[in-house]
Amino acid sequence: MLISKPFKKDQIIVALDVSSIDRAIALVEQLPEVTFWKVGLELFTSSGADIIRYLKARGKKVFLDLKLHDIPNTVAATCKVLANYDVDFLTVHALGGREMLKAAQVEIQNSQTQLLAVTVLTSISSSALATDLKIPLELTKYALELALMAQDCGISGSVCSPHELETLRSHLEPNFYLVTPGIRLADGINYDQSRVMNPQTAIALGASYLVIGRPITAAADPIAAWQQICEGLLSS
Ligand code: C5P
Repeated sequence: MLISKPFKKDQIIVALDVSSIDRAIALVEQLPEVTFWKVGLELFTSSGADIIRYLKARGKKVFLDLKLHDIPNTVAATCKVLANYDVDFLTVHALGGREMLKAAQVEIQNSQTQLLAVTVLTSISSSALATDLKIPLELTKYALELALMAQDCGISGSVCSPHELETLRSHLEPNFYLVTPGIRLADGINYDQSRVMNPQTAIALGASYLVIGRPITAAADPIAAWQQICEGLLSS
């Protein structure tokens, strides 16, 4: 299924995968056109809420990617605290189960935060799913089942591999966000992602947002990489 909505630059979320707030601020200043930033475990562990306050004070949208996964009571209590930070997206693991997802959703429902459920990490291959994790379902089917459960619990969207987009988009509500990492450019560098796709194809297949880290932040020229991605999407 091809989607032909006009592309907007805030559909690209750039991953601030750095270890200190100083390096994060340097990247944000280097890339003023980026309006949506993802703060992950590494940066949040080192900077705490300071990086959220910094980004919000500059009018940026924030995706806090903590991939929460614990018993319902613990995840719900954590969501209650994090909802005070005014982040736009916060991740929980769908594998935490129905009760955990529902408990998390209750705690953010009166805030501006929307929850995204992580399905299967994009670094997990089909063989790792079967051999290491002992999941007998085919990978896309498994991601779909997890996303359907998340939708049923009132969660706003899912994080999925670009290769699951077509299947997920055709089975989930049109307003259920599909947020996809594993985006790679034509330069052939995949880093540790197993299931990758270029930005244009991912958007055409129904991605609501793309999460892009190293293809921009580790590029020799991050500004040129960002512009190349935006131009490719605006002209497609
Ligand atoms: O550098 P790269 O483009 O691979 O960064 C992808 C980002 O998306 C990382 O911050 C990673 O933690 C995150 N992510 C992912 N797969 C998921 C969920 C989040 O790669 N399923």
